[in-house]
Amino acid sequence: MDYAFKESNIPTILVIFGATGDLSRRKLLPALFDLFENDLLPDMLKIVGMARRELSDDDYRKFVKDAIEKKKGKKYNEIILDKFLDHIVYHSGDFSTPENYKKLSEKLISIEDSFGACSNKLFYLSVSPSFYDVIFRELADSGLTIPCNQEIGWTRVLVEKPFGEDIKTAKELDKTLGLLFKEEQIFRIDHYLGKETLQDILMFRFSNLIFEPIWNNKYIEKVELVLNEDIDIENRGSFYDRIGALRDVGQNHLLQMLAFITMDNPKEFTAEAVRKNRASVIEELKLISDGNLQSHVLRGQYEGYRNEEGVVLNSKTETYFKIKAFINNDRWSGVPFILESGKALDKKRAEINIHFKKMETCLCPPGVEQSHSNILTFRIQPDEGISILFWVKKPGVEMALESKKLSFAYKEGDSKRITAYERILFDAIIGDQTLFTSTKEVSAAWEFITPILENWNDLELHEYKKGTSGPNVEL
Ligand code: BG6
Repeated sequence: MDYAFKESNIPTILVIFGATGDLSRRKLLPALFDLFENDLLPDMLKIVGMARRELSDDDYRKFVKDAIEKKKGKKYNEIILDKFLDHIVYHSGDFSTPENYKKLSEKLISIEDSFGACSNKLFYLSVSPSFYDVIFRELADSGLTIPCNQEIGWTRVLVEKPFGEDIKTAKELDKTLGLLFKEEQIFRIDHYLGKETLQDILMFRFSNLIFEPIWNNKYIEKVELVLNEDIDIENRGSFYDRIGALRDVGQNHLLQMLAFITMDNPKEFTAEAVRKNRASVIEELKLISDGNLQSHVLRGQYEGYRNEEGVVLNSKTETYFKIKAFINNDRWSGVPFILESGKALDKKRAEINIHFKKMETCLCPPGVEQSHSNILTFRIQPDEGISILFWVKKPGVEMALESKKLSFAYKEGDSKRITAYERILFDAIIGDQTLFTSTKEVSAAWEFITPILENWNDLELHEYKKGTSGPNVEL
């Protein structure tokens, strides 16, 4: 194994705040186990689960085992799982009590003693954003984030989205973080960046000559970016009702999808170059003012949402939105980018459709309307892949055209794809920030979203039935 952490063999401690929460159970713990199975974690590793619940180390190991079983069924190796569980301990305590951080610090020191070496430390905040501030401050005050040795041992914090609730709160949070940590220590998570299909957009665009020359407003008519889900808000009512769809997935996942499609070639695959170009294009989004809100934004709520647990009875929170966005630069000026997302829709579908313009002089049969244009689709999930719709002559005596698809599906390959959370945890350990959002990206995204949110309640909230394609209204 040629990864730096394998060579240097520096021990690593990962502390998960919110270790018994939904995200830990469904995503983080199974992803860590997968990395472990594939020998992609440091040899000297301890995972410290931290939460308020009173549990012993063994209780928590049982929790971890159940989480992995639930995710993988019986498809795991018992011996490897037992070895993985040996790396896990639990620390119970309140996130806002200084005393608790002192105890955590003692625990980490005793782990380091057992390693006989100074270790790298990661603090993963898998908690409600309302705890971010206090956790950052307590971490810094308790000295937990100070490396144990000048030469080796770094500390990093991993922060889940939503990063703030608008431009003001995001800036305040960033200010706090900036006072306590350096930018290279802060890993802001948008798990969509960890999806291989999203990263592949860059490889596809910048490694194939045939598309980049036509990747602009001269040849592209419009772009649709879709993140539709068939699940409803499940048991996240009280969180979701404060946040809504636009903050939940629009400010982050959809704008990152847009950035991958529209950014300029970073020329090198470094965190600095890629993040800079992603931020630039988000900064160039044309702001939607209250004057053109009605014609550029649509919002909806599924029927029955107000009866969900944790949701207020007269809630005006959106579970669906559609935005027509434009980018203010030479390459993209005039091209509409339609961003759409909703819960409880007819099917799960995350994809990007690039609609090319029609041929100016179509070799179409006489009398046929010139409606032939090509569509390039990136299927982010499910059925991950890429396809191109094109036009050919329909076989037979008549001169007619028909559409066909050139298609590629990732599942046809035999190499193992890794999940978004495996990727994110792995990159945080090796210290690669390419797939984490920079402070500039986060604030550019909020600059675009905040004016929409400020006028949100002026917009009609269209009700739609569960299991449909959303509100039956044109934008
Ligand atoms: C999360 C949102 O960030 O992304 C959820 O909070 C949403 O509401 C989820 O369901 C979608 O992610 P994925 O990977 O399942 O498409």
